Amino acid sequence: MEHSEESKQFLQEIEHLRQEIHRHNTLYYVDDQPQISDAEYDRLMRRLQELETLHPEFITPDSPTQRVGAAPLEKFGTVTHSIPMLSLANAMDEEELREFDRRIKRTLGTEAEIEYVFEPKIDGLAIEVVYENGIFAMGSTRGDGVTGENVTQNLKTIPSIPLRLFPPDPAIPLPGKIEVRGEVYMEKIDFLVLNQERELADEPLFANPRNSAAGSLRQLDPAVTAKRPLKAFFYAIGAIEGANFATHWEILTYFRTLGLRTNPLNKICQGIEQVLEQYQYLNETKDALPYEIDGTVVKVNSRHLQEELGTISRSPRWAIAFKFPARQETTKILDILVQVGRTGALTPVAVLEPVNIRGVQVSRATLHNQDEINRKDIRIGDTVVVQRAGDVIPEIVNVIESRRTGAEKAFAMPPRCPVCQGEVVRPQDEAVHRCSNPDCPAKQIGNLEHFVSKRALNIEGVSTKQIEAFVNNGLVRDAADFYFLKKEQLLPLERMADKSAANVIQAIAQSKRPTLSRFIYALGIRHVGEHTANVLANYFGSLERLQAASEEELTAIYEIGPEVAKSVSQYFSNPGTAKLLQKFFDSGVEIVTPEGVVTRQHLTGKSFVLTGTLTTYTRDKAKDLIEKAGGRVVSSVSKKTDYVVAGRDPGSKFTKAQQLGVSILDEEEFQQLLQA
Ligand code: IVH
Repeated sequence: MEHSEESKQFLQEIEHLRQEIHRHNTLYYVDDQPQISDAEYDRLMRRLQELETLHPEFITPDSPTQRVGAAPLEKFGTVTHSIPMLSLANAMDEEELREFDRRIKRTLGTEAEIEYVFEPKIDGLAIEVVYENGIFAMGSTRGDGVTGENVTQNLKTIPSIPLRLFPPDPAIPLPGKIEVRGEVYMEKIDFLVLNQERELADEPLFANPRNSAAGSLRQLDPAVTAKRPLKAFFYAIGAIEGANFATHWEILTYFRTLGLRTNPLNKICQGIEQVLEQYQYLNETKDALPYEIDGTVVKVNSRHLQEELGTISRSPRWAIAFKFPARQETTKILDILVQVGRTGALTPVAVLEPVNIRGVQVSRATLHNQDEINRKDIRIGDTVVVQRAGDVIPEIVNVIESRRTGAEKAFAMPPRCPVCQGEVVRPQDEAVHRCSNPDCPAKQIGNLEHFVSKRALNIEGVSTKQIEAFVNNGLVRDAADFYFLKKEQLLPLERMADKSAANVIQAIAQSKRPTLSRFIYALGIRHVGEHTANVLANYFGSLERLQAASEEELTAIYEIGPEVAKSVSQYFSNPGTAKLLQKFFDSGVEIVTPEGVVTRQHLTGKSFVLTGTLTTYTRDKAKDLIEKAGGRVVSSVSKKTDYVVAGRDPGSKFTKAQQLGVSILDEEEFQQLLQA
């Protein structure tokens, strides 16, 4: 576009104002050192607005004036994170934290102290923002870690999230693309004020700052989000083009230079004892912080060591959440109920006089099993101490015996299943009581719930209430029955209008092409969790091969123990299983192989050592591909090593491989081998 001299000058001033506003945002939000008054800042904003009104052709979506303005959405789109957003394993006490440190040293084969980064664990919700050439391109929630919701328009309204990144030094270009991750939260005072307003307006209250942050971010109308006082801290990167970092601390420093806010309490610690000191200090002072934290996060600082440690299931081995002790309250046990789970296990549950623990109303607590009840001598009518630790189900810590009146009643497991009246048995060496009736509806319902759950086949449209209705009306007995349901069969059910029946049928139909690992997990085989399902899927590559596997073959798989192997082989040798699987396939369920997954086991038994910087894959990805093809990645080179994969600037492992005559592959040869 040709611009006149005059409009060129306007454009220059506009660009200058935007940079100035960004600089002052950074000084205010990131450095906490504002250099101008609010009034002066407002003047800059107003001048920019004025110029943009005169020259709307110069408005760009990353202009600081463009935070609000997008139209309300009908529903959020979904976003698949280019690198999954992992979760963290938990350490509940000091001993577990020390064990984390010992495990790291063991895995790395070192006795030297590890350098950690210590960060407060912000109690908000995790988000990702993608900047392309410095411009805010997309923002999403973590969701289940793999896919989240596209909340771009809402995140753009949060003042502490820059709409554009400026390079700290004009000579250093910005990364072409950078995915930054952090936490959106609401300060305690803002949460209280918001709730006051809602109370006056007769609107439902939020239980705690975390819920109010989540509720505010997940508004379909960005104008509503804009009115909520949300803030953000950034603490991790996803994919990044054109930049490399040796440590996590470098990333945090880099964030600040770009204008991305990081937590001022983040610290580098030499060794785990320093971490513990920081933790204790924070535990004592945390209540004075303006926002809620539910613990701390401890991360290995070296990115190289992070890669070497890798990831298991959904959590990195190089980081851990170290939670603060749970909050406790006193209340009374009104009754003890018995729930029946999908394995037929009977779980006693205490019904409590409702009590508020850290903003959450608690009216139930698990009692685990009869032994636990006996050990703590818990009786109906007792006054007890209850605790809620993080996201886990509330539990009873102890009984306050001095409050006993003599009217308390002891509890014993019923001899008959409360759901089907089947006989209750307690297998030898087990702490649990189980219903012995294989057709107990509680088992059926539990299995079906598991089948549709998020991490199994993720049939979102089917609720527990609906499953109960299907089972009670004889429409569904096993999971394969879902796929034979017809809309007409659903219509007579209670609260099932034409539209909802159609939605259910559609949701079921959409789940007809699961991946092998999800399908195995969904079957609900005892002792087969998500990770094991993944291992089995990668090893066997098809359901037929898994079905045919003997117990010995299963036991021989790395990561499959004897108990799991036995359970899997029992499951598949049961004639009922073969019938069920056949029924699935008759209904049109088809297991698919996701693109890019190597399912042939052509590297079975081969061991690999990775050295140097790989450019085509991350280390985790390379390891994953090798394992999917049946191989193993080990950390040091020996005569038994089959291949050393050498990236850029390989280290001493390369020299050692040469000395021992181990095959050395460059990245191209490695790719060829994977695809061979
Ligand atoms: S790091 C692999 N750092 O905790 C690293 N997470 O269970 C993953 N969180 O989903 C996250 N403060 O919502 C990290 N300083 C911090 C954090 C933090 C809060 C949350 C986040 C994440 C969850 C992990």
